[in-house]
Formats: sequence, C-alpha cells, structure tokens
Amino acid sequence: MEAATPKTITVLGTGLLGAAIAERLISRGHAVTVWNRSQERLAPLVALGAQPAPTPQQAVAASKLVITVLSDGPTTQAVLLEQAADALAGRLVLQVATIAPSESVGLERDLAVLGAAFLETPVLGSRPEALQGNLQVMVGGEATALERALPVLRELDPAPKPLGPVGAATHTKLALNQLIASLTHSFSLALHGVQAAGVEVEAFMAILRASALHAPTFDKKLAKELAGDYSNPNFPTAHLRKDLNLFVEAARAQGLDVQGLSGLQSLLQRATAAGLDGLDYSALHALTGAPQLEAEV
Ligand SMILES: NC(=O)c1ccc[n+]([C@@H]2O[C@H](COP(=O)([O-])OP(=O)(O)OC[C@H]3O[C@@H](n4cnc5c(N)ncnc54)[C@H](OP(=O)(O)O)[C@@H]3O)[C@@H](O)[C@H]2O)c1
Repeated sequence: MEAATPKTITVLGTGLLGAAIAERLISRGHAVTVWNRSQERLAPLVALGAQPAPTPQQAVAASKLVITVLSDGPTTQAVLLEQAADALAGRLVLQVATIAPSESVGLERDLAVLGAAFLETPVLGSRPEALQGNLQVMVGGEATALERALPVLRELDPAPKPLGPVGAATHTKLALNQLIASLTHSFSLALHGVQAAGVEVEAFMAILRASALHAPTFDKKLAKELAGDYSNPNFPTAHLRKDLNLFVEAARAQGLDVQGLSGLQSLLQRATAAGLDGLDYSALHALTGAPQLEAEV
C-alpha cells in the first residue's frame, strides 16, 4: 500500500494500543506528536521519530488531527476538556478507546462547543493488528469529519467501517467485546469440564473444530490456558471487565435483559484480588477452575 500524503498527527495516550497506533503512523511517514501521563513511556516512540509533548495542551496545539487512546471515558474527558480545552478549536478528534456510548455522545457535544469536530473510532484488534495496519476501525459520526479523517484511518484499517452517528460505533464495539468475554468464559468452562473428566484436550478440540461451535479465538488462547501463562498481554483482563460492564450498562439502557451476564461480571470482579488485572484477558480461565486450580496461578 502506498503511503498517504504525510500528515501531522497527535496521539494522546501511549499505552499498549496507543503506542502501537503511534508506531504505525510513524512507520507510514507521518509527523507524530505524542503525549502520555507517564512521560517515560514516550521514549521508544521518540527513538522512532515521534515528537514528545510535555502537556496535553501542547500536544493538541501541534496537530489539526488528534487521536485519543486513553484508558476510559472519564480519563478522555479530563485530558481533552480539562487539560487541553484552549487548544481544541479547529481540531478533529478521533476517539479510539472503548468508552460508553453516552460518554461518546457527550464528548461530541462538549468538543463542538470548543470548536472541535469529533468522530468515535473504536477498534477491533490489538497491538499486532495496529502495527500492521489491519485493525477493524468502526466509525460513528458525520460524513464530513470522516472524509477529513479517512487518509489517516486507512493507515490503521484499509477499509474503515462507517456505522452511523456518534454512539453507533461505540455500541458495536461493546457488542463485540461482550462476545469476547462470553466466548472466553464459555470455552474456559468447557475446557475445565472435559479436563476434570479425564478427556484428552486434543480429542475434545478435534470434535469442536469440526463443528459449527468452533470460534477461532478458542484456538488462539488454548496454549495460554493450558500453560496457565497469561504474561505479555495485548489486551488485559481489567479492560475486558471495563468493557463488559459498559456493555451491560448500555444494554440495560436499551431495555435488554442482561441478567445472564451478571455471574460473569462478578467473576471478572474477582480478577483484581487474584492479581489478574494486568494479565491477558484469557486469565479469566484461572477464575473458572476448581479452587485447587486457582491456587496454582
Ligand atoms: N489493548 C488493546 O488491544 C485494545 C484494543 C481495543 C481497544 N482498546 C481500548 O483502548 C483503550 C486503551 O487501551 P490500552 O490497552 O492501550 O490501555 P493501557 O495500556 O492501560 O493504556 C492506558 C492509557 O491511558 C492513560 N491513562 C490512564 N489513566 C490516566 C489518567 N488518569 N490521566 C491521564 N492518562 C491516563 C495511560 O497513561 P499511563 O501510561 O501514564 O498510565 C495510558 O496512556 C482502552 O479503552 C481499551 O479498552 C484496547
């Protein structure tokens, strides 16, 4: 793929995903300014050519296009509206973090007051996909803003997916992450169940793979689950809990019956005390086992 005309882009938040997005944009020849609360996290990006900014205000002032990849809605609101408000006029903000639909709608409204345009652009995929430019970028917002953003969004997803007004992409992202949580949970229980019965895992997997029940994510996480090694996460358990809770809140507001997810919510709540929050989300498997299995984690 040929590189787009080089742009000047600001990335606010260089955690796991934000750093990979910034790295991808730098590798495609764009001039990228980065800000992160913990400034030491900027060093690898500066080594690749990024411009570090000491404050969100200075970072936003540096570019017409601002990408936010902060942990959640309240943090994104605080960084943009409290720490960068005076620099936002004329900016287009692309909001990548997984937040509540109501928070996304609120950001669009509050940014408009400050003279900034807004698109919600949550993504499916993680660091490897961001580095390769093959995330699935879901877009909520107005067509004029999307037209402005497209050359840059195409660096992350060759075909960004417009879904409707602000809120539509966030709802879609939460629906997908509810599937991540539910599928991981269902598979984990099935795996523990056959193992506890003394059935060979490969014999179970062969039947599953040959059936309509198989999902690729089962095989993707199987080795981690069998080894009980959830290190080097791309998407940690704490974020999965956040996203499931956001889905439940949004689905309740839509009048859906979400009581089937409440057990999974409490299970994920136990991840913090079990020390699993910073590990790969498949560490959920350590919570579903019999107590003696959990003790081995
Ligand atoms: N990782 C993925 O694969 C993935 C995929 C899709 C969507 N997402 C979503 O993208 C967002 C970021 O995920 P991530 O995995 O990159 O998370 P992460 O590694 O935990 O990074 C979170 C970022 O938010 C910043 N932050 C947290 N609290 C802050 C505060 N009070 N003030 C200012 N900055 C603050 C962190 O700064 P510090 O470095 O100073 O802590 C860091 O830059 C989340 O909403 C996540 O659900 C992630």
